[in-house]
Amino acid sequence: MTATPQIEIFEPKVPHGPAAEPRPGSGAAARRLGVLPMPSLEWNEQVARETAHLYERVKTVVPPVEWPFFAPYVKAINTLKEQRNAVILAHNYQTPEIYNCVADFVGDSLQLAREATKTKAGIIVQAGVHFMAETSKLLNPDKVVLIPDLKAGCSLAASITGADVRLLRERYPGVPIVTYVNTSADVKAESDICCTSSNAVQVVESFGTDRVICIPDEFLARWVATQTKVKIIAWKGHCEVHERFTAAELRDYRVANPGVQILAHPECPPDVIGEADFTGSTSALIKFVKDKQPKKVVMVTECSMADNVAAEAPNTEFIRPCNLCPYMKRITLPKILDSLVYLREEVEIDPAIAERARRAVERMVQLKN
Ligand code: 13P
Ligand code: SF4
Repeated sequence: MTATPQIEIFEPKVPHGPAAEPRPGSGAAARRLGVLPMPSLEWNEQVARETAHLYERVKTVVPPVEWPFFAPYVKAINTLKEQRNAVILAHNYQTPEIYNCVADFVGDSLQLAREATKTKAGIIVQAGVHFMAETSKLLNPDKVVLIPDLKAGCSLAASITGADVRLLRERYPGVPIVTYVNTSADVKAESDICCTSSNAVQVVESFGTDRVICIPDEFLARWVATQTKVKIIAWKGHCEVHERFTAAELRDYRVANPGVQILAHPECPPDVIGEADFTGSTSALIKFVKDKQPKKVVMVTECSMADNVAAEAPNTEFIRPCNLCPYMKRITLPKILDSLVYLREEVEIDPAIAERARRAVERMVQLKN
């Protein structure tokens, strides 16, 4: 940790509108591979029997009355995945029935990007947000990558455009540009390398320079600045979920729950991180709970994380402040099923942008752990 974090926030003189919305896919995959019949979604004894082992995984967080709604979708999705030779990559913020019952791989954004480079499946369904699906597509240009809802965006990705990054390059010539993966392909294309919350410090230090531009999350950049001697130039983007937590509410949790461990994601404001016992990526927070098995924990991040870890951490009590990510929550079992039946929405990236954006993502994935 540095004694005095060195940070400068760059604010454009002319405010701009939000980044462009993702465009619907062309339907090329559906024309090539065909649409499949919609499977039966009836709840009966056979479905109950065949999905009982999956209900075991979520029974502490999914009430029995809800399972008859989820189970037919779970069965249909798992059958269609085999038929389509598809995998589902699910982020740690997905709801428990997705995370535990249909996902093939779960993880933080770096783990999902790494997994995307390894899969042999022909189709990737991204149970996460659009920038994650774009990252998978960049790493798998010949595969079909589907996002079950095009509106699964991200406030950080919406905070910056490729034109903004060009402006930063002009303003700070020769200073390396590290871009958080929570950005569009357009923004990645203008960057030298990507990072996630789990490798941001390592990526910033990989250049060996005394200054690095780290965009667009101001709070992640401020946290990185506390962990390195490198001077950080940041952008004023924020995660609309993590920026809502306050230091005062964390202090109240500590008073009401003596001995509680407070774990925070680095997208939280600096005073919130200042109250935390540990800060890390979503997977680092999960690992902390599994390894240390604290008696009581507060996870200062998106709501579903506590539900997902709780299923695997029976010795820990979770105090649950709940800030939902409205974008992550757009992904549901019915939409994942539609994705596999109709092969939509296919993620397509302009090849000229994709080539440059891929370089930035690949540089990150190739950095040693
Ligand atoms: P992680 O890389 O820690 O999973 O974070 C992704 C994200 O969007 C957090 O809000
Ligand atoms: Fe984006 Fe925040 Fe949602 Fe993560 S939690 S996807 S950073 S809006």
